[in-house]
Amino acid sequence: MSGFAAVDVIRAKRDGGVLTDAQIDWVVDAYTRGHVADEQMSALAMAILLRGMTDAEIARWTAAMIASGERLDLSRVSRPTVDKHSTGGVGDKITLPLTPLVAACGAAVPQLSGRGLGHTGGTLDKLESIPGWRAALSNEEFLSQLEAVGAVICQAGEGLAPADRKLYALRDVTGTVEAIPLIASSIMSKKIAEGTGALVLDVKVGTGAFMKSVEDARELARTMVELGRAHGVDTVALLTDMNVPLGLAIGNAVEVQESLDVLAGGGPTDVVELTLALAREMLDAVGLSDVDPADALHDGRAMDSWRAMIRAQGGDPDAPLPVAKEVEQVRADIAGTVAYVDAMGVGLAAWRLGAGRARKEDPVSAAAGVVLHRRPGDKVRPGDVLYELRTDDPARIPAALDLAARSFTIADGPAATRPLIIDRIG
Ligand code: URA
Repeated sequence: MSGFAAVDVIRAKRDGGVLTDAQIDWVVDAYTRGHVADEQMSALAMAILLRGMTDAEIARWTAAMIASGERLDLSRVSRPTVDKHSTGGVGDKITLPLTPLVAACGAAVPQLSGRGLGHTGGTLDKLESIPGWRAALSNEEFLSQLEAVGAVICQAGEGLAPADRKLYALRDVTGTVEAIPLIASSIMSKKIAEGTGALVLDVKVGTGAFMKSVEDARELARTMVELGRAHGVDTVALLTDMNVPLGLAIGNAVEVQESLDVLAGGGPTDVVELTLALAREMLDAVGLSDVDPADALHDGRAMDSWRAMIRAQGGDPDAPLPVAKEVEQVRADIAGTVAYVDAMGVGLAAWRLGAGRARKEDPVSAAAGVVLHRRPGDKVRPGDVLYELRTDDPARIPAALDLAARSFTIADGPAATRPLIIDRIG
């Protein structure tokens, strides 16, 4: 491939130009190989954030990121394959019940997941609170489990979209995560390289999400749906609310417990609603629309599928989950109705308690987190428990308490109701 000067590519985007296919192919490849420096890619990422990209540039950038590594071939899997990706939110444990549920309904779900950073949790961190469970699988183990169990949640291998691995770490520390072209190409390059036949996207909107406005979320969803289809992956997106946390549990082990409640046929209504809506989209996408996922939640098939999935990765589904050493319950001091619980504030509180990490090398605490006892719309009386903070390190409680207290609003009138599912793109 002919070489360009990185500085010319940066200048072209800085000045609002459209990058050529050759420039994009070169810069992504040269960065992956270490021939373009981090400071040059940082400047280019910032120019992309400020100037944007055309659909054709985003498509080419995504193709270059896919070409930076291997593309898995799932053709030997006998069931249709379908995956789901969420853009990330607070209390978003949906992957945990959804993956075994959809497998129990006849599809195969190849779920390559990540770890949490900042206020959003990571699926792998949550599952690692199960004693013995292992996130890293070889490609061969991944394929055999997908065939045998129909459900795998594991860490993406080093060979998959290495350009994204490098670029995402750089964006995280250069204030360039929130660029729609970069988010769309990052997510879709990994999902396309993973080899899934169909994909359902859960694009979060609200204070606890990357996308704060419905317009931006719609634009991100449209971009990702088009990228998927251009690469032969049948893709649809739901836009869902992330102003308030999903469910009652925010943390690692506490979210696994809430997922088990859903798999046992109970659990908070919003978690069940979103799990079933996404399951229906996934089953529709692979021609299984006559199967009702609600039946599999209620008759134990989804739980059986969960147990097989956890066991296949060395986990003990019957082992007790870690419990925090310190539990601080916070009670209401006035009467009223819970008007609002801010997702970002509660996510940060859980993070402060040890559930999340500040740098990607940091460990996370399995037992730490926030458990809500009241949700928006619930009536409270003085003395009622509003939420509890859980941690192994009591020194973390005051800062978390301050964040959580500011996130809860109790008012006189009824709470404004907001729909969980805002729109469907596809
Ligand atoms: N998740 C990703 O995988 N990439 C992004 O850029 C943002 C969220």
